[in-house]
Amino acid sequence: MRIRRVPAGGLVAALAGGALAFGAVPSAARTDTRCGNVAERPWCDRSLAPDRRAGLVLAKMTDDEKIALLSSDDPLGGPLGGFWDGAHADTNAGIARLGVPPLYIADGPAGVRQGNATALPAPIALAAGFDPSGAARYGATVAWEARHRGNDVIFGPTVDVLRTPRDGRSFEGFGEDPYLSASLSAPWVEGAQRQGVMTSVKHLAVYTQETDRLSLDMTVDERTIREIYLPPFEAAVRDGGAATVMCGFGKVNGRWACEDGGVLNGILRGEWGFTGFTASDHTAVQSEVGSANNGLDMELPIGAKYNAWLLKRAVSQGKVEQAAIDGHTRAILRTMFAFGVFDRDAHPNDLARVDRTASETAAREIEEAGITLLRNSGGVLPLRAGDPVALIGHGARDTISGAGSARVQPFSSVSPERGITARAGASVTYADGRDTRAAAEAARKAKVAIVFATDSEGEFIDRSCLTLRCGDALRGDQDALISAVAAANPNTIVVLETGGPVLMPWADRVRGIVAAWYPGQQAGTALARVLYGDVDASGRLPLTFPVDEKDAPAVPGTGKKAVFSEGVNVGYRHYDAQGITPRYPFGHGLSYTTFRYGDLKVSPSGVQVTVTNTGARAGTAVPQLYLGLPSRASVPQPPRQLKGYKKVALAPGRSATVTFPLNDRSLAYWDTGADAWKVAPGCYRVAVGASSRDLPLTGAFGRGGASCR
Ligand code: BGC
Repeated sequence: MRIRRVPAGGLVAALAGGALAFGAVPSAARTDTRCGNVAERPWCDRSLAPDRRAGLVLAKMTDDEKIALLSSDDPLGGPLGGFWDGAHADTNAGIARLGVPPLYIADGPAGVRQGNATALPAPIALAAGFDPSGAARYGATVAWEARHRGNDVIFGPTVDVLRTPRDGRSFEGFGEDPYLSASLSAPWVEGAQRQGVMTSVKHLAVYTQETDRLSLDMTVDERTIREIYLPPFEAAVRDGGAATVMCGFGKVNGRWACEDGGVLNGILRGEWGFTGFTASDHTAVQSEVGSANNGLDMELPIGAKYNAWLLKRAVSQGKVEQAAIDGHTRAILRTMFAFGVFDRDAHPNDLARVDRTASETAAREIEEAGITLLRNSGGVLPLRAGDPVALIGHGARDTISGAGSARVQPFSSVSPERGITARAGASVTYADGRDTRAAAEAARKAKVAIVFATDSEGEFIDRSCLTLRCGDALRGDQDALISAVAAANPNTIVVLETGGPVLMPWADRVRGIVAAWYPGQQAGTALARVLYGDVDASGRLPLTFPVDEKDAPAVPGTGKKAVFSEGVNVGYRHYDAQGITPRYPFGHGLSYTTFRYGDLKVSPSGVQVTVTNTGARAGTAVPQLYLGLPSRASVPQPPRQLKGYKKVALAPGRSATVTFPLNDRSLAYWDTGADAWKVAPGCYRVAVGASSRDLPLTGAFGRGGASCR
């Protein structure tokens, strides 16, 4: 790919903020820091610009010292790190001779993977919250703990847009829409970096499946890369000021992601103005020559390729310029200067400094905001205290989470059983669900039966199907369990603790369906508060739940190849374009109250709508704006694309006016021929409502002299 300019204006119009200056967190004014004495080490002078300081120290470094900075030097790092309190995912020892401090790095996107930590709800639950301020709080919570575990960098957030619902890491990202993902990635990064920890946004540029992930060759057209997969990275860098970016596994259009100069140099640095450093995913580097010449600064988890022997040989053979090595070293040093790493003390690994109560509150409230009420037949929810409840399924007792680098070992956890028992004010029984007849019997004896259904996700494997039968093979046939319980008790509610969509052949036979995602360590408290109506159900789907497996836009590629033939029609764009009715559409989520949308005002620079709470309870609406861009045979456009949303809490009878600003980028498509963002002349269709399929308000505006009929 080549270097191109983007139109001015924030990527996420409604949320655009200025690019965050690199957030140095200097200690109180001191003349000597761990960097050293300014008289002996001029690069320790904090009044100089980061670039200058990096240049000064670089000039004093030996070739071996430069290369030593270009990789992690902890052989137990990477996936093996994080198992105990002092085990960082990666480290670099720094250069004591010159006062270059060490770097400590931890995973990850759902909490710190280093000993015990606060297990936040999975990032997909955060996405269901449809709330950028929640993302800032999430990032801040992870970074605060990472810092007090002695880390300088955190690997996160994961911002890969979901292509196939079977992706084994669907829980780890922000779902299927680039606008929603971008609107969360930037505040996550800002929130985290304000805590004095750098973030590493991952995995650039396209990473959508676990099957064959180390060697997958992805064929993706440029428009799709630009419109679907890159925007969350762009927002993290341009709006969030991310310090580092992690390139992923596999090849995109024949080029290994960690040696794709068009992306790492052209787009990331050239177009987006990234001045941090790039790091590889763990074992993603194929060749020292390919990566060193194409924008990769740091190899993780060790210098398998970025080591003195191979890199010096490459330089002596003329395959890599010394200037390239210097450039990578400079990028790392510059970032460390810019973020104040030289000028502050090391972050101590001292858990006593972590305010666990604040983290627990964040984990609970983020989960509450993300719990998504999909079905509520006959108003079975909220539950009434005093009604006997039967809890069925191991998810009522166990902590359900994804596996891999986003798995967090919680400090402690509140199971759904504990949370509901504390709130129910009546008998609460439990059956693990392995014996379907015993489960049905327990359900029969209670007023309400709640079945907890789980799937199993993590790195290395994609889900082999979307049903609950094979979704969590060890748990037996959960579809049959739900059907049996529903037959035994008319007030059956299913709570899904899954990392992504599942098929629900029983959907019409249960009265309530709640997506709790992987709920984090405060699962029980958050769930009880939503189920009993202490807070409104305010999550909305960040991905589509299909009726049938074959309805999904894509399956994971096999045989080391994935051809993205769906193009830009990812997620709901596919269902809309094909006219397929999903089980539950993107953006869907019920509240315990009702809302009316009215007073639509439309212009090319913004859309305004009034939302009124028409029910008897306080509740939270999430009005969503979708645009249909003018479609041409040469550039077909998805029927609708999310371009704005807002979470609004309203007392009964109250209204709020919501404005969705639009800028050129909101209207632009990627013109592959011109290699640029373009706003097409024509009519732009506007639709506003409660989900991608519940859009009571429609309008239109013209651009480029076009009028709308
Ligand atoms: C994952 C990364 C992670 C790294 C270190 C890799 O397997 O893909 O996301 O940061 O391991 O644990």
